[in-house]
Amino acid sequence: MRLHIIISLLLSLCLAYAREKRAFITVVTTEEDVEPAMAIGTLLRASTRTKDSVHNSAYSLDYICLVLRKEEFEAYKNPTTDQVTGGVSLIGMKKLTFSGWTTRPVSYSIFNDNYKGANWSQADFNAMWIWAMNEYDKVVYLNHDVLVFKDIKDLFSRNVNFAAAPKPFASHQFDSGLMLIKPNMSTFTELMNELKRGIEGSWNLDVFLNNYYSAWYTMGANHRLSPYYNAPYSWTQDESWVQHRKDIRALHFLGDEKPSAILKNPKKYNVSKYGAPFIYIWAIILFFIANPLEDGFEDETRHVLQKVFDITKSSKAVAEYIEKMKRGGTRLRISIHDDAEHDDDEFDEL
Ligand SMILES: *[C@@H]1O[C@H](CO)[C@@H](O)[C@H](O)[C@H]1NC(C)=O
Ligand SMILES: *[C@@H]1O[C@H](CO)[C@@H](O)[C@H](O)[C@H]1NC(C)=O
Ligand SMILES: *[C@@H]1O[C@H](CO)[C@@H](O)[C@H](O)[C@H]1NC(C)=O
Repeated sequence: MRLHIIISLLLSLCLAYAREKRAFITVVTTEEDVEPAMAIGTLLRASTRTKDSVHNSAYSLDYICLVLRKEEFEAYKNPTTDQVTGGVSLIGMKKLTFSGWTTRPVSYSIFNDNYKGANWSQADFNAMWIWAMNEYDKVVYLNHDVLVFKDIKDLFSRNVNFAAAPKPFASHQFDSGLMLIKPNMSTFTELMNELKRGIEGSWNLDVFLNNYYSAWYTMGANHRLSPYYNAPYSWTQDESWVQHRKDIRALHFLGDEKPSAILKNPKKYNVSKYGAPFIYIWAIILFFIANPLEDGFEDETRHVLQKVFDITKSSKAVAEYIEKMKRGGTRLRISIHDDAEHDDDEFDEL
C-alpha cells in the first residue's frame, strides 16, 4: 500500500517535471529546396530562439528538417523523361545541418500514387510523416516558402490537435503552408489509408488535408490561426498592407513568386515597395549562405531582423545593408545571450 503511494507520488512528480517536447519541422525532398530551407530555417531560428527557449523547464524546442535521401529515393520518376528528380544528396543534408536544422531522413517517401503524371512537388506528401512523430507533443510545420520574421512560439501554447490559418481567397479552407499539429499515430494511419484509397481531387497535400479536415472551419476558434501567422506575399502589393503590417509575423510566398525567382528576374515580377524589404532580406541570407562565418548565420540574421529590417519603413536600410556586406562590411551579430539593451555598434571596428 505504502509503496503504491510512493510510486504514484513519484510518478506525479515526474509528470509535473516532464518537459513538453516541441518542434518546428520542415520537409525537403529535392535538391532545389535545400537553399530555401536553409534560408527559412535561419530566419526561423533568429526569430524564435531566445535565452528563454533554450533553457526552459517547461518545454524543449527542436528544429527538424525531414529529408528524403537521394539514395533512398526511387518512388518517383518523371513520366516523360523517366528521370528521378527528387531526393537530397549528402552535401545537401550537410548544408541543412549547417544552417541549424537537425536533419532526419524519412524511411520511405509518401507520395500520391493515385495522381499519375503529377510533378513531384504535387505528388509529394512527405509532410504527413509529422503525424507519426509521436515523440513530440506539438509540432509547427512550415513550408520552405514561409518567411518567419517575428516570434511565433506562442503557437505551441494552443491545446488543439490541429490548427492552421485560412487561405487568402477561400477563408473556409486552410492553407497548409503553416500548421500546428499534435502527432497522433491513429491519425497518421487514417491519413495513410485515405491516401491509398485516393480521395477524389486530392492531387496535392493541401487539397488532401483540406478534404481530410473538411470540418476545420467549424472546429472552433482555437483551430483557426490568424492569417498574420501565414500572410500571403500578395498582401504586400496592396495599400491595405500598411494597416496590417505591424501584426504580421510570417509571409508566405505562394505560387511561382518565390524570393529566389524574383531575385533572379526582378523585372518579371512587380515587387511593391512593401514587398521589397523581404526580397532584400532573402538576398542578405543568400549572401550569408554563400559567405558563411564558422558558426553559421543565425546571429547575423538576428542582427538584420532586430537592427536593420523595419516593416514600417521602406527597403532602403535593408538594400544599403546588403551593399555594405557585399563590399566587405563588418559582419555584425546578435546572439541569444546578448541582452536586448546591448548596443552592437561598439563592435563596428572589430
Ligand atoms: C509540371 O511542371 C511543368 C513546369 O512547371 C508544367 O509545364 C507541367 O504542366 C506540369 N505538369 C503537370 C502534370 O502538372
Ligand atoms: C488521436 O486521433 C484520434 C482520431 O484520429 C482521436 O480519436 C484521439 O483522441 C487522438 N488522440 C489524442 C491523444 O489526441
Ligand atoms: C507589372 O506591372 C505592369 C504595369 O502595371 C503590368 O503591365 C504587368 O502585367 C505586371 N506584371 C506582373 C507579373 O504582374
